[in-house]
Amino acid sequence: MKEPRVGFGRETIQRLLSNLSAYQQKYGFDETVQITLNALLAYYSFNLEHGFKDEHLYESILKLKEAIPIYSNSTGEGGIFKVTKKSILEDAHIDLRGFFQSRYSIRHFAPVEVNMCLIEQAVAMAQKTPSVCNRQSSKVYVFSSDEDKQKVLSYQSGNRGFGDQASKVLIVVSDLENFTLIGERNQCWIDGGMYAMSLVYALHSLGLGTCCLNWSVERSVDKALKKATNIKDSESIIMMIAVGHLPEELRVTQSPRKPVQEVLVIK
Ligand SMILES: Cc1cc2nc3c(=O)[nH]c(=O)nc-3n(C[C@H](O)[C@H](O)[C@H](O)COP(=O)(O)O)c2cc1C
Repeated sequence: MKEPRVGFGRETIQRLLSNLSAYQQKYGFDETVQITLNALLAYYSFNLEHGFKDEHLYESILKLKEAIPIYSNSTGEGGIFKVTKKSILEDAHIDLRGFFQSRYSIRHFAPVEVNMCLIEQAVAMAQKTPSVCNRQSSKVYVFSSDEDKQKVLSYQSGNRGFGDQASKVLIVVSDLENFTLIGERNQCWIDGGMYAMSLVYALHSLGLGTCCLNWSVERSVDKALKKATNIKDSESIIMMIAVGHLPEELRVTQSPRKPVQEVLVIK
């Protein structure tokens, strides 16, 4: 925010402190504790800079910090850092129109194995996808062996004629354990869907072909796939993605899009 209010959010901070203390007692020191402490320190420093010294908060932070084991050299992330418009524009300056236009659903793959390093790189990129409260509910399962791919694809109805050529079959899921309120009941589809989109574009940027594969199935099929793959029941399956290298030449569908005037409603 441009001008955060000094001392704002004290109740939330108190709750965070007591939750953190309970968490630390139960689970010990880990990255979550470190990130939370860094965020609390940033909050304390901001207030101090603006003439508001919260002694109680500082003492609580120090107490929690004392519990950090000596052997830990983790500094973690959390809190804030400054960026400039210039640095953002420099990194974001790419021809996104050409990039978007050159992604097609690929249904013809070259018989070349996709190295797992590429999948790891793509997942690392997709990790930057925004998610509600940064809860990062999405996960990716990768299937590589012919037997596993065949098994997984046998539950999906839209891959006939090309699924067997995919070098990797991914299943993107969003874990419902990250959501607690009734109002969040559809959040997994949004966060998981956005994650899947990032992943598809990340794979595209690495030169790989992808085809999203719908998971529009009844509960019994969903249950059967989860059982066959050990995917937890709390993990909602967002979609599968067939991944492979591109052949030198291939046909893709034209799939024309509606004109902007039809979808952009300017009020
Ligand atoms: C969630 C989702 C599920 C899809 N499921 C399938 C599928 O099961 N089989 C298939 O051949 N294509 C599938 N597609 C691909 C769409 O048909 C394709 O994205 C659309 O026709 C636009 O074409 P384009 O991706 O080449 O631009 C799916 C796409 C999405 C986003």
